[in-house]
Amino acid sequence: MKKILILFAHPAFQKSRINKILIRGLQNMEGVTFHDLYQAYPEMDIEVKVEQKLVEEHDILIFHHPFYWYSSPAILKEWQDLVLQHGWAYGSGGNALKDKLFLQILTTGGELKAYCQKGYNRFTIRQLLTPFEQTSNLCQMIYLPPLVVHGTFSISKEVVMLYKKHYLELLEGLRDEKINLADLESKEYFNEYFNVN
Ligand SMILES: Cc1cc2nc3c(=O)[nH]c(=O)nc-3n(C[C@H](O)[C@H](O)[C@H](O)COP(=O)(O)O)c2cc1C
Repeated sequence: MKKILILFAHPAFQKSRINKILIRGLQNMEGVTFHDLYQAYPEMDIEVKVEQKLVEEHDILIFHHPFYWYSSPAILKEWQDLVLQHGWAYGSGGNALKDKLFLQILTTGGELKAYCQKGYNRFTIRQLLTPFEQTSNLCQMIYLPPLVVHGTFSISKEVVMLYKKHYLELLEGLRDEKINLADLESKEYFNEYFNVN
């Protein structure tokens, strides 16, 4: 069984509608460590050694967050800046993340159709996520496509529940190695694996 570390970042969780539903129950899931960064570090004073040890103890690293300004909330950038040290994450002797899987769970206000060259947001989600993809690559991780919940302002609770079901299937599938990673290679989004937009 693979061990999964979810780094969750939502700076206004008390106002959350979508992520509140998505994360319910994850704290008790076998093989999954749910780590709420803003709860652990309300002042953003990230403990580097604690975080590095946590990462070392897991096989799969997930960043789960709402999309903020075409990226992640600030604490995840801070986490990367501090935790991904030279000689640990990359560079000479920096093999701590080698061969671990990396992916993101995202919620976005923008609809899927807004994320294309001719759309309102002009770029695809995958284009906007390239800094994460290349960071994962530099750290010798295996990058998997993101699971994205689009259109959060108008989405119904029923559809959010459907994504939640797929999120749990994704976690179980990766944990129990039931998902063939080769099937994901051609996919832009993890959503396609479950045949949802
Ligand atoms: C500061 C801020 C920045 C945001 N930036 C984006 C963005 O770049 N693209 C987008 O599609 N939605 C953006 N949104 C919308 C959020 O992604 C959306 O409200 C969130 O995913 C909904 O999840 P929640 O109900 O758990 O808060 C932004 C929201 C805030 C508050």
